[in-house]
Amino acid sequence: MDKFNIAIDGPGAAGKSTVARIVAKLLGFVYVDTGAMYRAVTWKALQAGISPAEKQRLTEMASALRIELHPGEQAQQVLLDGEDVTDYIRSIAVTQNVSAIAAIPEIRRLLVDKQQDMARSKGVVMDGRDIGTHVLPDAELKIFMTASVRERAERRYLEMKAKHEDVTLEQVEQEIAERDRKDEQREASPLVQAPDAVLLDTSGLTVTQVAERILELAQAAAGKG
Ligand code: DC
Repeated sequence: MDKFNIAIDGPGAAGKSTVARIVAKLLGFVYVDTGAMYRAVTWKALQAGISPAEKQRLTEMASALRIELHPGEQAQQVLLDGEDVTDYIRSIAVTQNVSAIAAIPEIRRLLVDKQQDMARSKGVVMDGRDIGTHVLPDAELKIFMTASVRERAERRYLEMKAKHEDVTLEQVEQEIAERDRKDEQREASPLVQAPDAVLLDTSGLTVTQVAERILELAQAAAGKG
């Protein structure tokens, strides 16, 4: 199959990254988790004691950062200036602060440039919030993946419990609803379905079923090209 680009957008905990990784592996494409890039910048800002209000300092810090993404066993491995921050960027502190950092237009511009560079030679499966609308508007296949807030909260809650984190399902549900609201209402590239994206509601579907559906769509998109 010739190489082309697949954009997968949707709200948090809809299962995008798990499915995107599987699809990329099966197609022999490169998986790019753009949320991990916003998380990495947020982690660095927290480490350096820079608040989201200090836009100038943040932008200077972010433009000097070397962010590398490598395929990993469980999740994509994220290196920041050579340091493995894969686990750190999933912390509660990062999750609570990332929406504020991702709302800063200068930070988005920097990361979007990097993302577009990664996709230039084609053959990427990229997941995020603005990939089909903004980062890769010419992607050959665009998916908007969603699921009910309750179902997304249940999935995230089980993941967090497995890591022995002390949370209730209600807290996770509230946090997901709050992050949806921030991602949908921000001015810079809000979360919105691209007009030419295929809507995929994953409520009640297994990861395998979702991945199979995307592979079918990918076959059809490849046939068109
Ligand atoms: O997908 P995630 O939960 O790891 O994303 C973390 C945050 O980054 C989330 O609040 C939305 C934001 N994000 C974004 O604004 N644009 C992207 N392309 C990817 C993520």
